[in-house]
Amino acid sequence: MSVHIGAKVGDIAQTVLISGDPLRAKHVSETLLEKPTCYNEVRGMLGYTGIYKGKNVSIQGTGMGIPSTSIYVNELIAEYGVKNIIRVGTCGAIQKNIELGQVILAMSASSDSNTNKIHFNGMDYAPTADFEFLSAAYKIAQSLSLSPLVGSVFSTDTFYGNDSNRWNVWAEHGVLGVEMETSILYTIAARSNVKALSILTVSDNIITGKFSSSKDRESKFMDMMKIALEIAI
Ligand code: HPA
Repeated sequence: MSVHIGAKVGDIAQTVLISGDPLRAKHVSETLLEKPTCYNEVRGMLGYTGIYKGKNVSIQGTGMGIPSTSIYVNELIAEYGVKNIIRVGTCGAIQKNIELGQVILAMSASSDSNTNKIHFNGMDYAPTADFEFLSAAYKIAQSLSLSPLVGSVFSTDTFYGNDSNRWNVWAEHGVLGVEMETSILYTIAARSNVKALSILTVSDNIITGKFSSSKDRESKFMDMMKIALEIAI
C-alpha cells in the first residue's frame, strides 16, 4: 500500500494507462479488459488490473491537474515498479483549424506550472514523450484510420483564466492544444527511466468555442484507449 493507492505490490501491471476521470478507468477496464479487478478505491481514484490480448494491463484514474497526476505517477513508479505509463485524455485545441475529435500525440509539453522550475532550480526543462511509444502510437493510429497529429501541447495549472489572449503566443509557436497533466508525466518518467506518452483527443476548440457532446467524447475516448492498449502489449 502506498500513501494514496491501496494496492499490494504485484497488483498493478508494469504498464499503466492513466485517465484523469476515475469513472473512465472503471468503464474502460470493464469494457475492454478481461477479468478486471479493482485494486484501488482510496479517494474514489479507481484503479483496475485486467488482461488485454493475454497481457496484464492496469488503468488508473489520476484526477485533474499536475499535482494530482504527479502523486499517482510517483507512487506507481516508486512503490509498484511501473515501467510504462500512457496517459489517455482530452485537450482543448488552440489552432483554429483543428477539428473536435482529432487525436493528438503529444511529442512535448510546455507549461505554466512552477513544478519543473522547482525541480530544475528555476531553469526550463523540455518534457518529451518516449520516441518508441510515440512512433508505435502513430503507426497504430494510422492503421485505425485516425490520422493523428503529432506535436507539442501545453499543460496549464489554470483551466479558467482572465486573459482571453493567453494562448496566442503558444499558438504562434505551433502548440496544438492545452491540457493539464502531460508535462509532469514526461518529467517524472524521464527521471525514473520509465516510458511515457500522452494520447489526447480534442474535446473543445478554445479559439472557435466549439465543444463535443459527452456521447462524442465517449466514442473518441474508446479509439484512444485502443491505441494505448495496443502499445501496452
Ligand atoms: N483547457 C485545459 N484543459 C483541457 C481543456 C481546456 O480547454 N480541454 C480539455 N482539457
